[in-house]
Amino acid sequence: VHPADDRDTGSAGIAYWTARAEALGPRAVVNLDHSEDDDLDAVTAAHRAILMPALAGLLDGTERVVCDLGCGAGRFTADFAAVIGGRAIGVEPVAALRALAPAGDAVSFLGLHDDGRLPLRDGEIDVLVTVTVLGGLRAPGELERTAAEILRVVRPGGLVCLAESVSDTEGFDHWEPRTAATYQDGFPWADLREVARFDDAGDAISVLAGRAPVG
Ligand SMILES: C[S@@+](CC[C@H](N)C(=O)[O-])C[C@H]1O[C@@H](n2cnc3c(N)ncnc32)[C@H](O)[C@@H]1O
Repeated sequence: VHPADDRDTGSAGIAYWTARAEALGPRAVVNLDHSEDDDLDAVTAAHRAILMPALAGLLDGTERVVCDLGCGAGRFTADFAAVIGGRAIGVEPVAALRALAPAGDAVSFLGLHDDGRLPLRDGEIDVLVTVTVLGGLRAPGELERTAAEILRVVRPGGLVCLAESVSDTEGFDHWEPRTAATYQDGFPWADLREVARFDDAGDAISVLAGRAPVG
């Protein structure tokens, strides 16, 4: 697996994840600090046990459509649909990962537009979730462009829930270490608050939640 050698565009990051998917298959989406002996299903189950109750505790019962942005191989997409009692749209730029995602009546999977825009209509989404996605957005302005797209597709008052690495360890070529405050500053309209935190192979993951502005 080679790190992207051109960080100036988001497509370099996507090339990195494509190469990682080809090399590692379903393991591509988890922290490489997990031992090869770690059972991927057990790792996913441990994350699910934290993420789903955290999300459930934020719902108001009106939610029908959840977007799992950067869903990878769809580890959690169907769970998100079940938690809201509606349907889920997984958005994932890497076709090789989308191909691994389990199909189901309540889930569908889409790629990204070439310009990085989300393939979703304005205000279509009641809940948008990311699980260790935003740290991979390293191109200049990429985090800001993605935050603007999230604001566009989430309905007024809709929920945004970002489970992101907040480790301050040295950065990798493919991953930007950011603090929770950096994400809070990057989504100033959401008033993000930490609702859960867990360890992922030594990496601290903060679950930050807030809402799109109303009006
Ligand atoms: C660490 S993986 C996590 C995947 C999934 N959320 C999970 O937990 O299994 C990061 C994912 O973000 C995707 N990604 C990369 N650039 C993206 C972008 N601009 N927008 C959305 N997803 C992106 C990658 O292709 C990869 O599948």
